[in-house]
Amino acid sequence: LAGDEVLIVSNRQPYIHVWNGPHVEVQVPASGVVTALEPVMRACSGVWIAHGSGTADREVVDARAHVRVPPDHPAYEIRRIWLSPEEEDGYYYGFANEGLWPLCHLAHVRPVFRTSDWERYKEINERFAMAVLEEAKTDNPVVLVQDYHLALVPKIVRDHLPHATIITFWHIPWPNPERYAICPWHREILEGLLGSSILGFHTRFHCSNFINTVDRSLEARIDWDSSTISHGGKLTTVKQYPISIAWPTRGQPEQPSVPSCRTHIRAINGLPHTHRVGVGVERLDYTKGILERFLAIERLLELEPEWIGSFSFVQIAAPSRSKIDEYRQLTEQVVAMADRINHRFGHEDYRPIHLRIEHHDPQEVTTYYRGADFCIVSSLHDGMNLVAKEFVAARDDEEGVLILSQFTGAATELPDALVVNPYNIDQCAAALHVALKMPPVEQRARMRSMRGIVQEFNVYRWAGRMLMDAARMRQRARVDR
Ligand code: G6P
Repeated sequence: LAGDEVLIVSNRQPYIHVWNGPHVEVQVPASGVVTALEPVMRACSGVWIAHGSGTADREVVDARAHVRVPPDHPAYEIRRIWLSPEEEDGYYYGFANEGLWPLCHLAHVRPVFRTSDWERYKEINERFAMAVLEEAKTDNPVVLVQDYHLALVPKIVRDHLPHATIITFWHIPWPNPERYAICPWHREILEGLLGSSILGFHTRFHCSNFINTVDRSLEARIDWDSSTISHGGKLTTVKQYPISIAWPTRGQPEQPSVPSCRTHIRAINGLPHTHRVGVGVERLDYTKGILERFLAIERLLELEPEWIGSFSFVQIAAPSRSKIDEYRQLTEQVVAMADRINHRFGHEDYRPIHLRIEHHDPQEVTTYYRGADFCIVSSLHDGMNLVAKEFVAARDDEEGVLILSQFTGAATELPDALVVNPYNIDQCAAALHVALKMPPVEQRARMRSMRGIVQEFNVYRWAGRMLMDAARMRQRARVDR
């Protein structure tokens, strides 16, 4: 693909400019899409088209809504798309996050589908697709479309640029056909996605759910052996590409040592030096199993009172999608449950749960990963989950324990984690105890094996495999043209 034009299009942008008093501050959002694609984009330059969601985003762009990033070493451009609050309500909060998000995650939250949201979703997908056409300098760019916010973009781009190579990646699970049929516009979404040359999912299960869904809903020719779908004269290859993170390389800023991270995270939480600390890092989202994890901590303290007073759990929770009722209710429940457990087991200046509902920058999160005794990921359902991989990548001391939900894509790649069912509170409590008691030799054996896997199957491999497949397709197309 050397020399080819690469355009990324996603809802979430990698850098958000916000006002902090009179100053403009740059934030990196908590998003799996951003974590994975930012290093890829740094490596291949190009343009990243995304929603300009920050309060100061308009102040820093040029007349074409472009800004060069990363702010310290510019390597590529963001082209910002502007949305009015009403457009954001219908397209992002409504259709994408009250409709498609709960539709695709088995977290027992009912999807809500409103016709008015769908109309907005269509309009805004059209707007993103038009921006791709405006940015494209050639008639055959490589367009990387990201996630469930933009399901209609592939078809619109394909209709205008038939020679483009469109690689769409669906970062969340794909449900089974019965569940997917709940969406009143399920055919339109499928047709939109089938504008892609390649459609990627994290796991084989999501690929086969998708192909089965197409088989049920559309008149399409499916070649099960090669996982290709032919629909409306277009051919789409459906393939598994497990996403990952950039492995820390030499040349990146030196991390503070593990002992200094241990000291730091204890000091800022007012904990004694010898205190045992577990950590959880996520957006405040009902798919992440935060309440289930708190119940497991409570159960641990009931069953193993030795940890009362000597162990605390720090939950880093980035506020997320808080305009949506389900998310507001979850925040209240999480706060109330932490208070209840702290009241039950806390004393004087001891609290078992330290809840930090605020944005943390990536450097602070790394300090927590490095300073904690364990990290728990207890998602009820998760496409991949990159927190698990970030934790492993951060532990160059080869210690620390990962407790990981079996319902994440990551669990299939990291069997050396303590794999748990987050609905099984007793099992999770037992895993917490095992993590706190695990001898360093065993920690090292498990961590070494997980680090080997994440280092090898890193995000460059993820992007590289997709781009190689795209390059082969382009070569074939050039021969045919
Ligand atoms: C998930 C989605 C991403 C999204 C991220 C953060 O990881 O797959 O597309 O960016 O959540 O959510 P937000 O709504 O803040 O972008």
